[in-house]
Amino acid sequence: MQATETAAEWGVAPLGLLIDHLLATHHTFTKVQLERVARLTGAAVLADGGRHAELDEIRDVLDELREELWRHLAREEEVLFPLIRALERGRGHHGLSPAWPIEVLELEHSHALYMLDRLRDLTHDYQAPTIATPEHRALYDALASLDADLETHIMLENDVLHPRALDLAP
Ligand SMILES: [Fe+2]
Ligand SMILES: [Fe+2]
Repeated sequence: MQATETAAEWGVAPLGLLIDHLLATHHTFTKVQLERVARLTGAAVLADGGRHAELDEIRDVLDELREELWRHLAREEEVLFPLIRALERGRGHHGLSPAWPIEVLELEHSHALYMLDRLRDLTHDYQAPTIATPEHRALYDALASLDADLETHIMLENDVLHPRALDLAP
């Protein structure tokens, strides 16, 4: 499904359902894939034997991205999503506005997208070199899936969830 179709579809659904979808689909996948990518990076570096120096840089970017994303997902799950659910039920949430958490989370999205750009540069858009080990190829395939999923995930939050949540705010 195209990203725009997804956005149009979620533009009218209850926000609680969109949050359920974000959690069940994108948060779950990101957590599983971040751990998988960490394992694959270790295996790729080991199998490569130092032939491709970019693997070390990829590992550094991924370590940072992984740490940031785990904290980011927790902030959404523990702060913003419960607040939006409460606002949608018309109950407010101790008078809190979603504006401040949204501002912080969108800055984190920008940084995650910047890190994905760095990964695309380092991996030549996830195209493994001609002489690459199977571990190296498996890592690039896993990174391409992580990247594609994060793009949709961030688009749904920035373009659909956040503006609609701000409209609900008192
Ligand atoms: Fe999220
Ligand atoms: Fe997010």
